[in-house]
Amino acid sequence: MAPERLDKLLSKCLPLSRSELKKAARAGLITLNGEAVSDLSVKVDGNADSVLFDGKKVDTDEFLYIMLNKPKGVICATDGRGEKTVLDLLSDELKRSGLFPAGRLDKDTTGFVLITDDGDFAHRILSPKNHVEKTYIAALDKPVEKEGIKQLENGITLNDGTQFLPAKLKALNDEKTVIEIKICEGKYHEIKRMFKAVGCEVTELERTVIGGLQLDRNLKQGEARLITEEEKSKID
Ligand code: URA
Repeated sequence: MAPERLDKLLSKCLPLSRSELKKAARAGLITLNGEAVSDLSVKVDGNADSVLFDGKKVDTDEFLYIMLNKPKGVICATDGRGEKTVLDLLSDELKRSGLFPAGRLDKDTTGFVLITDDGDFAHRILSPKNHVEKTYIAALDKPVEKEGIKQLENGITLNDGTQFLPAKLKALNDEKTVIEIKICEGKYHEIKRMFKAVGCEVTELERTVIGGLQLDRNLKQGEARLITEEEKSKID
């Protein structure tokens, strides 16, 4: 984001006129990186600088990128029509209009959901063309056979003609009932249907990584935090 005048930036973020902003600055209500500012012509970077109005952080970021550790029982949608959505889990500090989950996890899937208001970024990470891998850990009702692993690694076609791109699989236990699986696309119930095609039911599913960014294990299920610039660059 290119630096811009503080008064210009604030007039986009707060329902105040330039003269009201000037008055507020004179009263010491506006701080920039911890210092009260009287000159609102100072240039600021909305993504990097911290601006407070009357002690409260002003949302000056161009876009927000949020990591949520999704629990079971909430849906990835902006309007739950009576059901709880991932947006309902965000604290008031993180909430703002225009946010949506970039990609859907099933209601009973847990783990990493990226919430943003940056449509281009979301599209980039979701499009299979861009090969942004999503890593999941799937618990299965029975061991997956060697042949099943091979089929999923080669890309499997279901009887109804649905084709799934090749996945990468790694067994995480000796019984081969806990499997790490990486995919680049996000078809409806993709992983459950892939395993079903090779004779296994998925009993638990968690998304742990998007691109090169791991779910922060300090986040308990239901908790969310902003993604840093450095973390964002690991995603795509
Ligand atoms: N595949 C599924 O089957 N479910 C999810 O929630 C995500 C991927």
